[in-house]
Amino acid sequence: MILPPSTLGLLGGGQLGRMFTMAARNLDYRVTVLDPDPLSPAAEFASGHLNTAYTHPVSMEEIAKTCAAVTTEFENAPAEVLIALAERTTVRPSGHAVAIAQDRTLEKSYFRDNGFPVGPFHVIRSAADLPAALSAVKLPAVLKTARFGYDGKGQARIDQPADLARVFEDWKGALCVLEEFLPLDKEISVVLARDAAGRVASFPVAENQHVEGILDTTIAPARIPDALAAEARQLAEALAAKLGYEGVMAVEFFVLAGGKLLINEIAPRPHNSGHYTIDACRTSQFEQQVRVLCGLPLGDPSQHTPAVMVNLLGGIWRGEGYKLAPDWSAVLKHPGAHLHLYGKREARPGRKMGHVTVCDADPARALAIAQQVRADLGIGRAAAAPTGR
Ligand SMILES: Nc1ncnc2c1ncn2[C@@H]1O[C@H](COP(=O)(O)OP(=O)(O)O)[C@@H](O)[C@H]1O
Ligand SMILES: [Mg+2]
Repeated sequence: MILPPSTLGLLGGGQLGRMFTMAARNLDYRVTVLDPDPLSPAAEFASGHLNTAYTHPVSMEEIAKTCAAVTTEFENAPAEVLIALAERTTVRPSGHAVAIAQDRTLEKSYFRDNGFPVGPFHVIRSAADLPAALSAVKLPAVLKTARFGYDGKGQARIDQPADLARVFEDWKGALCVLEEFLPLDKEISVVLARDAAGRVASFPVAENQHVEGILDTTIAPARIPDALAAEARQLAEALAAKLGYEGVMAVEFFVLAGGKLLINEIAPRPHNSGHYTIDACRTSQFEQQVRVLCGLPLGDPSQHTPAVMVNLLGGIWRGEGYKLAPDWSAVLKHPGAHLHLYGKREARPGRKMGHVTVCDADPARALAIAQQVRADLGIGRAAAAPTGR
């Protein structure tokens, strides 16, 4: 076990890193954040901030020498950096697992090749693959870049065969995957932790509503039959086991009519849909990340109170340059509503600035209060963020 006050290394310093750092500091670990952004939200709470590129040799040396264990908070931490660090210190999750999650073509192929349910897709490496993609995938479809897509970015809807060639050319022939656009009944996700001994603790299934490709609302537990929830947790746990995964990961699912489950994607880290665990579960996904990283026993993931989480995107900030924060009394007047702000100094439409989790013993009441908060803050009224789709 790696015990406090050891130093933990964190690649990436956004809001997920901030909440990891708060959980780690609460246990009296020291945290060194590596993030090129001088205004990194995590660095505010960290013991040290290496303000360089992720691959900078001086930062790599510092982390290898001073950190008892290293983790990541975003999937684009270069996998090769994690693999190199693993020669010198404990790294969870492994660079090999992160490499799969950061490339949609590897990810989707991994699901299919290992017997996990996945929707129809076709990998496009060059223009020569376009005709085969169109015969393998029915239209309408979604074209997604293999790498660096998030919150619906790097995605384009394909309605006509001609759209595909045009978008592929616009994207300069980047490696892509074409997916059938599926009629979704619901979207759900499972966040879990798996330790080095293979023990797994999954959190209750979350139900996710997206707007313009960005998570808007999470309802936990999901309003689905128990059998479907159990199936999602089993699939997520089986996938983590297959990957030999060590750390916290999230599995996003599509639910089709009739309750058919398909895996959409995985995230090798805590997930926006798991933010409700901070206020509504016995252990948060971030404390669990600290525990699994340090080889501590896993915490109890069970939920003590029904919860609804609402994301706060920068479009609800007001005035020129989005400088004026919303009136937080709309949140604070509800005793069961918990406001989390990420310390980002600049708001922009579509930028994740914070979230609110409403907890209530009555799930219908939690949802009603969350909807009231959403309306009072002007969420949904603000012009939708451009997402490239
Ligand atoms: N094949 C699809 N069919 C229907 N909706 C989709 C499909 N792919 C993505 N979406 C919608 O867009 C959202 C974001 O897509 P996703 O692949 O999860 O990318 P990101 O990395 O941006 O989260 C999904 O949660 C879903 O709402
Ligand atoms: Mg997603």
